[in-house]
Amino acid sequence: MNESHHAFERYEAIWLRVVLVMILVFLVLIAYTALNYGQTIPRGAGQIRVGEVRAGSEFANPRLEQVGNEYVAYVQAFAFGYSPGEMRVKRGRKVTFYVASPDVVHGFMIERTNINVEVVPGYVSKVEYTFDRPGTYKIICHQYCGLGHAKMLSRIVVEE
Ligand code: CUA
Repeated sequence: MNESHHAFERYEAIWLRVVLVMILVFLVLIAYTALNYGQTIPRGAGQIRVGEVRAGSEFANPRLEQVGNEYVAYVQAFAFGYSPGEMRVKRGRKVTFYVASPDVVHGFMIERTNINVEVVPGYVSKVEYTFDRPGTYKIICHQYCGLGHAKMLSRIVVEE
């Protein structure tokens, strides 16, 4: 074997270790977010006719409802905004969000949580979350949906 072959082997060994360390770091990060932010895996909650989001469904009257000790929110994600534009909840109570779009694909991401939902026309997205820390959380569209995408915001206020 010549000199350059040995040099290649050394680089290969170094990069193999770098890759293994990165895999470890990613696994630790996944475990960290799952433990600290809970599991907020969005679920499909059935289909909906796009034309019924604004008329003839629960979403035609977007709202936050208190049901016993919990909340249920029906949210319209549309070009370009959310309805309701603001929601207020008490901390420590479960909130179930149902989100639907009357037009194109939107996102439903809540800052400082791991809620990250895609809202596809024709389907209802569902995600549950319990806010433990009071404060104002921005709700952000993270799917490019047109010229007003960057202004597509809402918020949820968590009170003591
Ligand atoms: Cu809606 Cu981007």
